[in-house]
Amino acid sequence: MHFSVGFLVIMYLIEGVHSLVEFTNFECELLDRSFCGVEYCRIKSVNRTYKYLSLKVNLFKTPVTDVKVNTAFYQRLNGYKPFLYNVTVDACKFLKNQNSNPIFKFVYGVFKDASNLNHSCPYDHDLLVEKLTTETYNHYVTKVLPVPEGKYMVKMNWIAYNISRAIIRLYITLT
Ligand SMILES: *[C@@H]1O[C@H](CO)[C@@H](O)[C@H](O)[C@H]1NC(C)=O
Ligand SMILES: *[C@@H]1O[C@H](CO)[C@@H](O)[C@H](O)[C@H]1NC(C)=O
Ligand SMILES: *[C@@H]1O[C@H](CO)[C@@H](O)[C@H](O)[C@H]1NC(C)=O
Ligand SMILES: *[C@@H]1O[C@H](CO)[C@@H](O)[C@H](O)[C@H]1NC(C)=O
Repeated sequence: MHFSVGFLVIMYLIEGVHSLVEFTNFECELLDRSFCGVEYCRIKSVNRTYKYLSLKVNLFKTPVTDVKVNTAFYQRLNGYKPFLYNVTVDACKFLKNQNSNPIFKFVYGVFKDASNLNHSCPYDHDLLVEKLTTETYNHYVTKVLPVPEGKYMVKMNWIAYNISRAIIRLYITLT
């Protein structure tokens, strides 16, 4: 309860700031190559204003029935410093009840329409995020959770069966 009230307060505090999102870098780091592989992890620039990111992860030990995701936001000041949230969700439980975690619901909302992750566990197929555009982010960052200008990083640690398997870092600039 405390958690979601805090979230709303921050949403209102920074409402009205208008931003444009640019993806500057996208990194996928594998911590356990026997568990999963990355076929691609990239930002494609169609032109100066239109960029999208795509990700394809192969799972080698299917079905996967236990997934946790630790998501944290960082803001670049003097190095990247923790910004607002660092939350861990049980993805299998979350996907059954998306209202169980408002912060992760926001994170998930950004990419769910571009991905094949939108079902509950088990996962027994390659995981895809295709053509996630900055427009999707613009909508979320300016309308749903407006945040001040600057450079940010969204870091996600993907944990299966209580072991970290991969870390994803998305670097974005808001102007
Ligand atoms: C960039 O590419 C997109 C998609 O092809 C297109 O809709 C848009 O008009 C282009 N913008 C510029 C400035 O060329
Ligand atoms: C969240 O915070 C914990 C404790 O400080 C830290 O170990 C972890 O790396 C952070 N998560 C992410 C995704 O950065
Ligand atoms: C998942 O996304 C696909 C493609 O957008 C859609 O057809 C499907 O109905 C979605 N499934 C759920 C459970 O939302
Ligand atoms: C998960 O791992 C952490 C440390 O890596 C440990 O403290 C915790 O007890 C483990 N939880 C389960 C359910 O195994």
